[in-house]
Amino acid sequence: MTEINIGLEGVLVGETAISHVDGERGQLSYRGIDIALLAQRPLIQVAWLLLFGSEPSPQQEQQLAHYLLAHRHLTENECQTLGALPITLHPMLMLQAMVPMLELQCQADLDIPVGGKDALQGLIIAAKLPGLVSAWLNRRQGDDWPRRSNAIDPVRAFLKSLHGSEPGDLQVQALNSAQVLQMEHSYNAGTFAGRVTLSSQAPIQSSIASSIGTLFGRLHGGADQAALEFAAEVGNPDHAAAAVADALQRGERIMGMGHREYRTVDPRATLLKPMARQVCAEQAQSARLLATLEAIEAACVAQLGQGASAKGRPAGAIRANVEFYKGAVFHALGIPSDCFTAVFAMARVFGYIAHAIEFRPQARLIRPRARYLGNPPGAKQPPASGRAA
Ligand code: COA
Repeated sequence: MTEINIGLEGVLVGETAISHVDGERGQLSYRGIDIALLAQRPLIQVAWLLLFGSEPSPQQEQQLAHYLLAHRHLTENECQTLGALPITLHPMLMLQAMVPMLELQCQADLDIPVGGKDALQGLIIAAKLPGLVSAWLNRRQGDDWPRRSNAIDPVRAFLKSLHGSEPGDLQVQALNSAQVLQMEHSYNAGTFAGRVTLSSQAPIQSSIASSIGTLFGRLHGGADQAALEFAAEVGNPDHAAAAVADALQRGERIMGMGHREYRTVDPRATLLKPMARQVCAEQAQSARLLATLEAIEAACVAQLGQGASAKGRPAGAIRANVEFYKGAVFHALGIPSDCFTAVFAMARVFGYIAHAIEFRPQARLIRPRARYLGNPPGAKQPPASGRAA
């Protein structure tokens, strides 16, 4: 009988030239360039590279920046729709609900080498996601909303709309790098969900909404919120070892630890840790959270590594992933923990669009099979309960 692989571990379902995850060596590159180098570059430049597979000229980079700016502000109708949603909704549910309702008329020119409608409409969605997140938060806090910023840099504009004040250069740089690091990760669950949706010839907004819905889960993007909230609950580095032991004893997973692909440290976590130290340094609460996260990581490495039991993983192979230290960076930037995954979506959307551009021309309906375990076809049905036979 054919073996069933529910999680599709190691199953090849396609080819991609967008990013490469080398799980054994702990390396990640976009279009052949290591993410450690890309994290230093402006988000717009990396977005072009990711989407179109070549370095942008200064004119192309500028045109993309203007295209995103031209579509950044929410329209009257979009504000009305957003304002009608219950404010208690999790920001990720709000994003998933709003994406299919966004108005996608082009308001500016963008000369793109490939991708057509998927690229142009996808980029309008990418332009509006930060506005949705900041407007949602402004509304929740009872501030005037939407707060608009015309800063050409979308990262600076987002922080300004969020807080209503000019962010410092260190803050902008930290968020820019964190966003670049989480823009793309090959066939992760959210991207794959988007590809399944595209495979039925659905439009880009349906695909991105599917991806965002999948990103929300705690085993995927939602681990960022869960990891920081666990650290906040632990409260103190001295309590970390006992808290990890208790959680493992209860059979719980430690959020932000472990990865399907990496057998060593996630390279994004390696880059985010010093960044977190830098941005948390001057804020006592963030610094304490970071110290607690570091102690939790040390406890996990010690306790999860014991016996090399985790399905063939060598001792110490369950290490921090991208979600773990990112929370400390976001916390120091004043982003509430329940918005972490929504801010993640603002970056990952560029990866979703890149996959739409790559996949649409070769798409084939994704439709696997299940082994049937129910009644044999034509078998006599038992009488429904409460009804006469
Ligand atoms: N905490 C505790 N144990 C963990 C663990 C974690 N975070 N991650 C893996 N393990 C252990 C478990 O013992 C598991 O064995 P089990 O299935 O008998 O419980 C074993 O490792 C293998 O885990 P498995 O779920 O098969 O590996 P995977 O490749 O599917 O796991 C994750 C990948 C991400 C789902 C998993 O590491 C996890 O749940 N991490 C926490 C959530 C998270 O941070 N997600 C974001 C990923 S970027």
